[in-house]
Amino acid sequence: MNELMRVEDLKMYFGGLKAIDGLDLVINEGETLGIIGPNGAGKTTLFNAICGVYKPTGGKVIFKGQEVQGQPAYVMARKGIARTFQISKPLADLTILDNVVAAAGVHEYTGMRSYFRKSHTPEVIAKAEAVLEETGLTEVRDKKASDVSLGYLRRLEIARVLVTDPELIMLDEPCAGLSNFAINEVTELILKLKERKKSIVLIEHNLPITMKVCDRIMVLSYGKKIAEGPPEVVKHDKQVIEAYLGEEDEA
Ligand SMILES: Nc1ncnc2c1ncn2[C@@H]1O[C@H](COP(=O)(O)OP(=O)(O)OP(=O)(O)O)[C@@H](O)[C@H]1O
Ligand SMILES: [Mg+2]
Repeated sequence: MNELMRVEDLKMYFGGLKAIDGLDLVINEGETLGIIGPNGAGKTTLFNAICGVYKPTGGKVIFKGQEVQGQPAYVMARKGIARTFQISKPLADLTILDNVVAAAGVHEYTGMRSYFRKSHTPEVIAKAEAVLEETGLTEVRDKKASDVSLGYLRRLEIARVLVTDPELIMLDEPCAGLSNFAINEVTELILKLKERKKSIVLIEHNLPITMKVCDRIMVLSYGKKIAEGPPEVVKHDKQVIEAYLGEEDEA
């Protein structure tokens, strides 16, 4: 498998808090990597430090052989690193279709509103429509984002990522807070992307989902990697059971 991204000794400190504390990680092309770990383990911070939302305190992010750490989010997006947010942030007043159209301009424009105006071409609209079909959003394409349920919004987040033709898709808890039905729809969508050999990093609290869709799982605890491997191996790791699964059992 070809390496797509390599994270070396990555550190993200907030004052004295070591949210990411010297992390090494490889993401391979066409692989689905799961990231699990207790609340506050540093999963979202890892995404933020990779995607340029935060400037890492130290370490390297190497994407397709090039050092990219510390660059702003829009530069990372143009390089093909695309992520969803744990809390959906659609443009509430725009329709589902226009939200996807707006996201399509990431390679050309930086301001959301400005690229929405300029992206509204027949080609982009056709592409956005294809992505809506793929993500099961066609039935709500003309509804305002503020008027659809969370299940749709989570898939909208993924649609907005897909329309940019990303090389690396990073999903932050796309199933959190959803009904079992909506979880199934998101899981099926991820499996479809996986079939198409997309490179995916998935943060997910739900262990059965992670086990089902991921080729490999990395377990984070207090900003450090405590285990990594195929789902079946990670599931039986003693440290993982103590740090993570134990917590779930008590809940
Ligand atoms: N901007 C910030 N400023 C200060 N501390 C932060 C900031 N962002 C995150 N943290 C802290 O970093 C640690 C890791 O948080 P993070 O959100 O990455 O955890 P997580 O693994 O995504 O948790 P969850 O499962 O709840 O989403 C937490 O202690 C959190 O309070
Ligand atoms: Mg998080």
